Amino acid sequence: MTTSKTEHIAICPGSFDPITEGHMDVIRRASRMFGRVFVAVAEDSGKVPMFSVAERVAMAREACRDLSNVVVESFDGLVVEYAKQQGAVALVKGLRAVSDFEREMQMAWMNRQLAPELYTVFLVPHPDYAFLSSSLVKEVAMQGGEVSQFVPDAVHKRLQDRMGRSQ
Ligand code: PNS
Repeated sequence: MTTSKTEHIAICPGSFDPITEGHMDVIRRASRMFGRVFVAVAEDSGKVPMFSVAERVAMAREACRDLSNVVVESFDGLVVEYAKQQGAVALVKGLRAVSDFEREMQMAWMNRQLAPELYTVFLVPHPDYAFLSSSLVKEVAMQGGEVSQFVPDAVHKRLQDRMGRSQ
């Protein structure tokens, strides 16, 4: 291989509804491994989101503002097509517990069928976030629980606003 790994482009795709510290751990690591990282917020991931795509992008942009080689965008359609448009060599996903494994492997396999030249790279999140998910954060926040340690500040503020509470 003649190119330096620092020139390679990766995509971190997801619903990011909302982005969590678990996602951020994976994105930070990806930003050290690749020259440029696109955090790709899916407009439609088949789930009914709590936040609009514009809100999810805004929160992720705020959270990633100190990562100079990270760009946050939304995308529609197949992730492999978006990856091709960006010239990416890899999709980077966090793999938490065994519960993630089957769905992530299904997606990795399908994406490999669709785009054999594109790699799926799984990164292991910090153990502090091994069981953290956006769904759990929303559930706890909706019941009035404290979630500030699990999400970036921009997300915490929006969750507070959504729940009609002041900081
Ligand atoms: O955060 P999530 O919900 O695990 O992210 C899932 C996501 C958005 C990465 C996945 O649904 C996706 O890639 N959607 C785009 C459409 C697509 O390419 N579907 C086929 C995936 S095999």
